[in-house]
Amino acid sequence: MHDAVEVILAKRDGGELSDSQIDWVIDAYTRGDVADEQMSALAMAILLNGMGRREIARWTAAMIASGERMDFSTLSRPTADKHSTGGVGDKITLPLAPLVAACGVAVPQLSGRGLGHTGGTLDKLEAIPGWRASLSNEEMFDQLEAVGAVICAAGDGLAPADKKLYALRDVTGTVEAIPLIASSIMSKKIAEGTGSLVLDVKVGTGAFMKDLEKARELARTMVGLGTDAGVHTVALLTDMSTPLGRTAGNAIEVAESVEVLAGGGPADVVELTLALAREMLAGAGRSDVDPAEKLADGSAMDVWRTMIRAQGGDPDAAMKQARESHVVSAPSTGVLTRLDAMAVGMAAWRLGAGRAKQGAAVQDGAGVLWHARPGDEVTEGEPLFTLLTDEPERFERALASLDGGFDIAAPGTTYQATPLVLDRIG
Ligand code: URA
Repeated sequence: MHDAVEVILAKRDGGELSDSQIDWVIDAYTRGDVADEQMSALAMAILLNGMGRREIARWTAAMIASGERMDFSTLSRPTADKHSTGGVGDKITLPLAPLVAACGVAVPQLSGRGLGHTGGTLDKLEAIPGWRASLSNEEMFDQLEAVGAVICAAGDGLAPADKKLYALRDVTGTVEAIPLIASSIMSKKIAEGTGSLVLDVKVGTGAFMKDLEKARELARTMVGLGTDAGVHTVALLTDMSTPLGRTAGNAIEVAESVEVLAGGGPADVVELTLALAREMLAGAGRSDVDPAEKLADGSAMDVWRTMIRAQGGDPDAAMKQARESHVVSAPSTGVLTRLDAMAVGMAAWRLGAGRAKQGAAVQDGAGVLWHARPGDEVTEGEPLFTLLTDEPERFERALASLDGGFDIAAPGTTYQATPLVLDRIG
């Protein structure tokens, strides 16, 4: 038998936690026998002193064991899932899930809501009138068999220890600990029962991991956890110093995703969607299918429409538009050489696309559109950003976050683009 103070002291003093200490503390915390203040102290000790590979694996296993495990092994097709560590303008799941399903691989995508300046897939999809995020396990299974793709909220039964711990980390400055991020993500993905998994580990100003080495360490840790649990896992490290596409918000990101499904859309969104789709198909043993063809021939769009309808949504309904807009003009003529993901993410968040308090509602129509991407020519006085919100009093703080968030160099300056996919681990 253990007690919380003994476990906290062991980690505070730089020791390794034993398997039985880890099993005990996760179970006792889930049941409410370890108090939030004790778990906060332990999370901070883990953030400061780290964890070894065995400890992270055991911590992850204990979080999985705190709830149920789903099983899709009786489906008629293989399964693959994708998880992004969170970014700005990251709407990739929306075109990706139906695209991979159109290629013959089922996608059980349990998604989350926005966190801080990063957007959440469920918040985006809820901008579609009628669309429902909560499905029972049975509904999820049936939709996977019939449609091939589901994007929904994780049920309460899945890794409940993570639900509690995640909310606690969010308010105690302990989100950025690699062992805690890796175990949080992987406990949910392993419990979800996907056969293969592709991790999109974001790197840059708009990501939780700001530098490449830290992101690599996170990716290696997660790939190790997945592989040890029998899930085919690879990670792509992708740039998040520039926001993805041309929109950050909810309804406006759905609209951009539909453009991609219709064969258009911003080049970077298409590139990342296809790169992740190829990895998911390879992991599920279907490298023979070319996802670019399924995007071009409309079959991914057909799955999207069926998937949205299956969850009560109307893919043809007009989405809510923000009541107010404010245009920011380019202050000079030249070449846009930097567009900072964090600045754009904060602006979208402050306009009401994200929430300031857990459980608060988000605005469907709020967000930021940018009219130029790095490398584009801009002209003084022409629109650079359009800010959208229902509450005009939000403009001032959103504008403040865009301050210093972009650079315009003299006309004719050559712009050296950084690659979108920075590395692959797996
Ligand atoms: N996403 C998660 O699910 N958990 C984390 O800790 C960070 C991002």
